[in-house]
Amino acid sequence: MVRNLASLSTLFAALAIFAAPTYSFQSKMQIASSPFGKTAAGQNVTKYTLTNAAGNTVEMIDYGAIIVSINVPDRDGKKVNVTAGFKSIDGYLGKHPYFGATVGRFCNRIAKGKFSIDGNAFQLATNNGPNHLHGGEVGFDKQMWSVAELKAETSVGLRFTLVSPDGQEGYPGKLTVVADYVWDNDSCLTISFSADTDKATHLNLTNHAYFNLSGPASGTVYKHELTLAADKYLSVDETLIPDGKFAAVKGTALDFTSKRAIGEKIADLKATNGYDHCFVVNGDAGTLRNAAEVVDPVSGRTMAVKTTQPGIQLYSGNFLDGTSANGNYKLHEAFCLETQHYPDSPNQTGFPTTLLKPGQKFKETTSYKFGVAK
Ligand code: BGC
Repeated sequence: MVRNLASLSTLFAALAIFAAPTYSFQSKMQIASSPFGKTAAGQNVTKYTLTNAAGNTVEMIDYGAIIVSINVPDRDGKKVNVTAGFKSIDGYLGKHPYFGATVGRFCNRIAKGKFSIDGNAFQLATNNGPNHLHGGEVGFDKQMWSVAELKAETSVGLRFTLVSPDGQEGYPGKLTVVADYVWDNDSCLTISFSADTDKATHLNLTNHAYFNLSGPASGTVYKHELTLAADKYLSVDETLIPDGKFAAVKGTALDFTSKRAIGEKIADLKATNGYDHCFVVNGDAGTLRNAAEVVDPVSGRTMAVKTTQPGIQLYSGNFLDGTSANGNYKLHEAFCLETQHYPDSPNQTGFPTTLLKPGQKFKETTSYKFGVAK
């Protein structure tokens, strides 16, 4: 009996050794943190590295709730960073093109920085020609967020929280925003925003990551093949403010309803020097549905975007100028797929509302899933 027990325990020990690779695979999942420098006001900035079971990583900082890097394999298993970012805080403290940032209170444009709520007029900063862009002078991308770690069986993540005081950047209401960034073992990054306010206000949140699935310094994204689940886009004036019309993409350079290289018709878009358009995502807003798919035929990397938001802005890095302030990215060397409510919604009666009232909860979810083409 004793001998049998002894041999049983030998058997269990042997099984444990066989099971060990599974454990070490699981144990790759972790959240690590390291100092990333200081803000101009002397606040410490921390970088968090989320590692999934496949060893793929997402790095984020608590300044601006910014994605610094996303490292995923190509068809040969080689991992590179597929999103534009800076190696130290300095790049983020200067004027940069919103690399990886969580943008608010209102991403994209509001005409002349004006809106009214219940007869009260509000004036925001006009920081983009005559219009307001991406929350103003000191938007959410330039503020410190508090961070909590999110750990689950198949994912690691971060919960960023920001309290924006009443009147900040001219917006009414004390607004509390929570942004969860969850990186799962299938290399899907899910971003869930929620918010509430103590006075009626307008809100439109996005993440402004720039992608080049071939990695940094690999040239333009012209060969990337894009599919957008969008039959319509918002037609705009010369300052990129919508005129309220939903235009059909059919027969235009904006038709990505079937897979097409980003570079194929980009030269047609002379006024904007490339893509800078808000598309109407097919299907019901509020439901997590397919919005975009991207295939990089060079590396084999793919990215699929799903969202509950009504719109998606395709921006092809038309202002990237190769300077260090732009992370040395040149014209069209990265693109953004920013999910969002439509620009200028506060002034457009035909658009889904962006008004958030006390007692209401704002909720939007977007996911970016990385893979390799078969
Ligand atoms: C806008 C562009 C703008 C860019 C700034 C995009 O969301 O649509 O017009 O230049 O952000 O980085």
